[in-house]
Amino acid sequence: MIKVAPSILSADYVNLQKDIELVDKGGAEYLHIDIMDGSFVPSISFGPGFVKSIRPITNMVLDVHLMVQNPEHILPAFIDAGADIIGVQVEATQHIHRALQIIKNGGVKAEVVINPGTPVEMIKPVLHMVDQVLVMTVNPGFGGQKFLPETIDKIAELNQIKKDKGYNFDIEIDGGVNDQTVVDCYKAGATVAVAGSYVYGADDPVARINAIKDATK
Ligand code: DX5
Ligand code: ZN
Repeated sequence: MIKVAPSILSADYVNLQKDIELVDKGGAEYLHIDIMDGSFVPSISFGPGFVKSIRPITNMVLDVHLMVQNPEHILPAFIDAGADIIGVQVEATQHIHRALQIIKNGGVKAEVVINPGTPVEMIKPVLHMVDQVLVMTVNPGFGGQKFLPETIDKIAELNQIKKDKGYNFDIEIDGGVNDQTVVDCYKAGATVAVAGSYVYGADDPVARINAIKDATK
């Protein structure tokens, strides 16, 4: 069964604590927090202060996805804010190895993220040092986009590398995930599913978490 990471990008910001408690009690393993800088992606969302405010109100694993150009500079602030996992996009830095080192040295789990147009080849040299790989299943920047099935082969490729090399990183998927699209990703080796609009856009978010889990039993 896949782990579920609701994305609070699609939550009700005025009632955030309620929306976090809801998915926590509803069995979600991670809370996915999308950080957008208006440069790497067109949108602007939250900063480190936001993560810091959430930290004391939940014990959920805070899974922070940085869609930020040159993330090295801002990493210490997210480490201090209490993130449990920090993901950096390989396309956003010339120094992906250094960025991952900063995260790990801060005692936080390190994740590398690849866009739909980025091959697995790009991240092979850092796979030995990551706790999680995020395969974007839409182009980053917005919630509510359509899942891109051409990304599934990359999940399978990463899963093969895991087996061949004896690595045990999680493989996360993000974008357009629902109880249908998750199935082939899970079969290919995905272990964590981010879901924003599918969960928080529903009248019953917990039923949607369960639907993703039921689809991957
Ligand atoms: C997209 C973000 C996603 C987003 C997913 O750039 O990285 O985490 O919240 O939203 P849905 O699940 O609606 O595609
Ligand atoms: Zn995300």
